[in-house]
Amino acid sequence: MNVIDIINKTKKSYELSDSEINQLVNGYTTGKITDYQMSAWLMAVCLNGLSERETLSLTTAMRDSGETLDFSGLGRITADKHSTGGVGDKTSLIIAPVVASCSVAMPKMSGRGLGHTGGTIDKLESINGYRTDICGSEFFDIVRTTGFSIISQSGNLCPADKKIYSLRNATATVDSIPLICASIMSKKLALNADCILLDVKCGSGAFMKTREDALRLAELMEKTGKSAGKKCRAVVTDMDSPLGNNIGNALEVKEAVEILQGKYKGRLYNLCMELSAYILELAGKGDYKKCYEMAENAVSSGLALETFRKTVSLHGGDCRICDDVSLLPQAKYSYRIKAVHDMKILAVNSEEIGMTSLILGAGRQTKNDVIDMSAGIVMNCSVGDCVSVDYTIMTLYSSTVSDFSEASFRAVNALKFCRI
Ligand code: URA
Repeated sequence: MNVIDIINKTKKSYELSDSEINQLVNGYTTGKITDYQMSAWLMAVCLNGLSERETLSLTTAMRDSGETLDFSGLGRITADKHSTGGVGDKTSLIIAPVVASCSVAMPKMSGRGLGHTGGTIDKLESINGYRTDICGSEFFDIVRTTGFSIISQSGNLCPADKKIYSLRNATATVDSIPLICASIMSKKLALNADCILLDVKCGSGAFMKTREDALRLAELMEKTGKSAGKKCRAVVTDMDSPLGNNIGNALEVKEAVEILQGKYKGRLYNLCMELSAYILELAGKGDYKKCYEMAENAVSSGLALETFRKTVSLHGGDCRICDDVSLLPQAKYSYRIKAVHDMKILAVNSEEIGMTSLILGAGRQTKNDVIDMSAGIVMNCSVGDCVSVDYTIMTLYSSTVSDFSEASFRAVNALKFCRI
């Protein structure tokens, strides 16, 4: 069938066959189908959607456009985790060593931050010396030795997704649930872990702003993963307010280390234990309650911190940060935002906090922007807290911005509060 007939079928909401979807993906990846033809098809998908079968077919065609990894030689069950992104989300830095400490290997490829959301790779690169661009055999060796490794997307994984995702960015076709599902799941399936946990964020700082959309994406990704032969679970979690107290690369590594040191409990800790327990349950380590206890023991025994230390060291990073977080990049300038009267915090808008962090230098507006690793925000309050006049609600940090007027204006605007 020619590509115009394929576009027409989706335009008229007729289902495509597997072979038509393969033809489309292969034709576009090899340059036989043009950008304008693919754009037209993507727009038709945005408007009319795809069936579950078509979404699975698109996902596997994208997976098969490049190489697929094979961890069977590890002799251990493997798990992967994906978060759809948010503000202050450093869960992978905690969950990977926790899960690895419970004998489930986690080889993980992560992304960089863009816009108001952060990326795990940038966070790890704030550790002096940590290399994220390591090659396949070294990746494999680290996973074999410590149980986990996190590297940047490398090799020839899902070239179709790379090409289609940049086209979607340029043609207003990102916000389609089947396209997001195929893009995320093709990369998860190419990494090829036995178990996949998907954390679909919902709220002001997330891709999915409504619970209804988040649930639809979660359900579709879980079904797609299972149909492709994986043990797969998707959960929807809150991103209405930032996750944890610290936002910004080195500040988030600091908070993750402090959680692994057992210093803090609270919303971030609870979520990490919950997600770790789901992964361990998928990996057959027991029921949810038992797996939750295993995850908590990995932290309280210090084993997860030791696993993190070993992985950081094998990546060339300064693992002394596990004992002394002041060795992480420190900001030259800081600015305290204080309560002007006694107040109750009603809401903290994640997206605005993410944008404030970006203005301070912690994020990127475009792919090639250079990041200030020390920049970010430390929140000293959570939703529901009551604070007295003069209390420091948050502190802004930067080494590149010394005039805090714009950032502090945005940070204050991110708060919804009432006088008490
Ligand atoms: N992340 C991805 O990798 N793909 C999407 O389409 C959206 C978010």
